[in-house]
Amino acid sequence: MRAHKAAQRWRMSWLIALNLGLTACAALAPANHDSGVEAGRRLAHDWQKGNCLACHQIPADAQAQTSANIGPPLQDLRSRFPDRAKITAQIWDARGTNPDTVMPPFGSARILTRDEIDRIVDYLYAH
Ligand code: HEC
Repeated sequence: MRAHKAAQRWRMSWLIALNLGLTACAALAPANHDSGVEAGRRLAHDWQKGNCLACHQIPADAQAQTSANIGPPLQDLRSRFPDRAKITAQIWDARGTNPDTVMPPFGSARILTRDEIDRIVDYLYAH
């Protein structure tokens, strides 16, 4: 009985150590920028998510096939929106800059999470 308890305790502490180790690895791993850009592209192009191509061209991305022109082409955003908070706010809820906008309020309407919008900004900044 005693031996069984000890084994159980040992197993438990091993699991905790493993867990801490994995958490540390995740925290120390370098941020993979490319995967952020790729995830952002998928979210921006996905018609059930960002669906940005319904209204915007993204001229620097050859994979962004669309003839949409309801919104301005999304280009040179890193230089035109150097403040990441401003472009994030535009995607979160464009009514902040234009109360009559037709752009969906992706954050306020919970179409996209903050994390998903961050990935889309990574993608836009790369194009
Ligand atoms: C239904 C159409 C529509 C959709 C869908 C849409 N937008 Fe827009 N967007 C607009 C319009 C129109 C504007 C022009 C400014 C305004 O009216 O708010 C705009 C402006 C912008 C701007 C500012 C561009 C500039 O040059 O000033 C950004 C950035 C932007 N949109 C990003 C996005 C992203 C990212 C998505 C997808 C997650 C998206 N938009 C989806 C219509 C849309």
